[in-house]
Amino acid sequence: MQTPSSKTSTSKATNISWHQASIDRNSIAQKRGHNSTILWFTGLSGSGKSTLANAVNAKLFEMGLTSYVLDGDNIRHGLCKDLGFSDADREENIRRIGEVAKLFLDAGIIVLTAFVSPFKADRSKARNLVNESDFLEIYCAADLQSCEKRDPKGLYAKARSGEIKDFTGISSPYEEPLDPDIRVDTASVKVEDCVNIIINKLIKLQIIPK
Ligand code: ADX
Repeated sequence: MQTPSSKTSTSKATNISWHQASIDRNSIAQKRGHNSTILWFTGLSGSGKSTLANAVNAKLFEMGLTSYVLDGDNIRHGLCKDLGFSDADREENIRRIGEVAKLFLDAGIIVLTAFVSPFKADRSKARNLVNESDFLEIYCAADLQSCEKRDPKGLYAKARSGEIKDFTGISSPYEEPLDPDIRVDTASVKVEDCVNIIINKLIKLQIIPK
């Protein structure tokens, strides 16, 4: 059953009530033949989150399953375009994505989120919006040196020169997940192999069929 996430925080609006959806998540799962879940990719900029999330998404699509990627850089062009990279803005960014991911979960969709999400507390809050079994934290564990060497968007060079402030790993912290559900060494393991690790885990957890 979908419950308002406001169970843990108060809404500004008063006089609002929860309208129960007429089609629930279980009915959707039965009809579609697979469950929904949140795959929460976290890691440094350039660690391969978007690449891996998109590759997993492509595999799920090929298998005929319903999935969608929420990507940090893309979402910051729209829903989160009012936010920058201060700690408070990152917190709000992740809060919104946690809520959006929860809606996708309820819609029966496997949702893959690719955000740096550098703070443990914010990732925990996103996880706590849903049941424990509905959220898999996937740590793209490429180390700073590898990400900086790759520097696909030239942002590390700009951060080092001081052109970009508050850059994760350089001038803003990244709090490593200590106990992720899946850890993929995206600095050394091939994308296809990382995809297989994640797909096999989804099969094992009976979120998707074999
Ligand atoms: S988060 O910290 O709030 O989770 P998010 O994933 O949305 O960040 O955005 C990170 C992306 O924005 C990076 O992949 C990078 O392309 C870009 N970016 C621009 N400035 C910064 C910055 N100061 N720190 C980190 N990423 C930045």
